[in-house]
Amino acid sequence: TRVSVLMGGASSEREVSLRSGQAVGAALEQAGYTVTLVECGHDPVTLIRDLRESRPDVVFNALHGRFGEDGCVQGILNLLGVPYTHSGLLASAAAMDKAFARRVFAAAGLPVAEGQVVHRGEAPPVPRPYVVKPLNEGSSVGVHIVHQNSNNDPLADWPFMGDEVLVEAFIPGRELTVAVMGDRALGVLEITSEHGFYDYDAKYAPGGSRHIMPAPLPPEDTAEAGRLALAAHRALGCRGVSRADLRYDDTRPGEAPRLVLLEVNTQPGMTATSLVPDIAAHVGISFPELVRWMVENAQC
Ligand code: DAL
Ligand code: MG
Repeated sequence: TRVSVLMGGASSEREVSLRSGQAVGAALEQAGYTVTLVECGHDPVTLIRDLRESRPDVVFNALHGRFGEDGCVQGILNLLGVPYTHSGLLASAAAMDKAFARRVFAAAGLPVAEGQVVHRGEAPPVPRPYVVKPLNEGSSVGVHIVHQNSNNDPLADWPFMGDEVLVEAFIPGRELTVAVMGDRALGVLEITSEHGFYDYDAKYAPGGSRHIMPAPLPPEDTAEAGRLALAAHRALGCRGVSRADLRYDDTRPGEAPRLVLLEVNTQPGMTATSLVPDIAAHVGISFPELVRWMVENAQC
């Protein structure tokens, strides 16, 4: 089987994707596939030409962020008729738009943070502390937390590209992430970060964050986190592997802990030490086994 690994791309997560792609390519070779690494740039015509030349049986999509994660590349692959890993066009587009995904989650009865889309010049819809997020970025690029006493005011300064952002109540407590593989939630991992916020540096600088697997939670909360991740994956119509990010608020005195769904990542990071491979490893699925499963379950 010939597999082309798409990596790089034109998004702010290009460097992360190059790391994912290299790791995936090596693991696929180890698993016995014939691998071509396809470094993508801005030009869809070049991508189409490269795919025509490499003639893959399956595309492993290791792109992150705009164009690679938001349905655009998925649409090209649909047109070319090449099966690809991860979610299809619609689920990819829905998950990437944080405001749209929130509406899908809420309609499915899943717990989301209070909040709404804010246009340039509008006041925050929730009291401090709150989080301001670009609608379609990954890896926490452009995310601002406005604490109770913060002096920075991203809604006034507006360091964002478009005219709309999502503003959500900040959920105190702990950061959890859940890997979903097909019809199964694989496990719940807790992330602790030196910076207090799991931002871009915490995600990718060595020692910037720690993975605690399995997350030390009461069994019923582990089960509930898995249930929410699988329900979110299904609500969006995702395929293959995805990863749901959640907050676990155990800070309210005298009240039961609360789980809140932040987002589903349809193209989660895939370096050998990324979150999904780490969770898979803890349930006995090696990185080559994980990527093999993804290739065998590719669809168009
Ligand atoms: N957006 C990064 C790659 C992730 O979710 O892992
Ligand atoms: Mg993300």
